Amino acid sequence: PVPVILDCDPGHDDAFNILLAAAHPAVDLLAITTVAGNQTVEKTTLNARRVCSVAGIHGVPVAAGRDRPLHAGPYGGPRVAENIHGDSGLDGPGFGEGEPPVPQDPRDALALTRDILLTHPAPVTLVPTGPLTNVAALLLAHPELAARIERIVLMGGSTGRGNTTPAAEFNILCDPEAADLVFRSGIPLTMFGLNVTHQVRATPEVLSRLAGLGTPLGRLCVKLLTFFAATYREVYGFDAPPLHDPLTVAHLIDPSLVSLVRAPVAVELAGTYTRGATVIDLDGVTGLPANAEVGIEADADRFWDLIVDAVRVLGER
Ligand code: BDR
Ligand code: CA
Repeated sequence: PVPVILDCDPGHDDAFNILLAAAHPAVDLLAITTVAGNQTVEKTTLNARRVCSVAGIHGVPVAAGRDRPLHAGPYGGPRVAENIHGDSGLDGPGFGEGEPPVPQDPRDALALTRDILLTHPAPVTLVPTGPLTNVAALLLAHPELAARIERIVLMGGSTGRGNTTPAAEFNILCDPEAADLVFRSGIPLTMFGLNVTHQVRATPEVLSRLAGLGTPLGRLCVKLLTFFAATYREVYGFDAPPLHDPLTVAHLIDPSLVSLVRAPVAVELAGTYTRGATVIDLDGVTGLPANAEVGIEADADRFWDLIVDAVRVLGER
């Protein structure tokens, strides 16, 4: 199995990525680290613990990372996506007030990641599905650890339009300097941007498959996706919401699920209207060397089979 650290901001779609990584035998989930993004890092960390607790994912350390972008930037402090993920960052099921049984690791995300990279026998794959602040902070603090990273498989950016400004996708816009550092790190990189994540929509048929599992976890997933569907309809007018983040782990499980092209990818840091955009030279007009594989076309049916099966497996444990 592929040794993986998930770095996330759950977040409805991040939550499903945790389930997929924990359930599938092709993935060895070593740790979950959290970052400010969809909500504050306090909330995203609590949400990661909640997801692990309800899904019976024990023994995977959960550690909190950065609470704001590397640099303040023109937008000031962290931005959140309350309009999409709600006040808790994971609205819908109602997790109640109590502390989830899965604990928070006493180390911060950087220390936990460092410990794992130094001790794991093989290089580890990083899977960031939130702003890239933690990954950039790690590379700044411990550049020598880059050699311990097998590759980075991330959700962020777009070959076309953004979703938070016309040009920029949320994860990249939250911390463009961090994203820039990661895209220039020289570490093998695979990105799944909006151009491909918008192809995997949680349709009513998907919801009925999850409901049909007949487990508490299946019902919880339906509540998550019902909330997510309502905000996506309200904010973007989508008939069904795109489940962005799990394309990362789905790709690790089945590399044939999404077609990829190698291309030069740059992150716009200035730009009057385009800060946070990923500028992707699909036509090779710049002559720059490719620094990433870019997800292009996804097999949505096989993607949903993986998701439904992960929820089934965890629900039956
Ligand atoms: C990304 O932003 C977040 O709201 C989602 O969790 C996903 O990682 C999509 O732009
Ligand atoms: Ca996310």
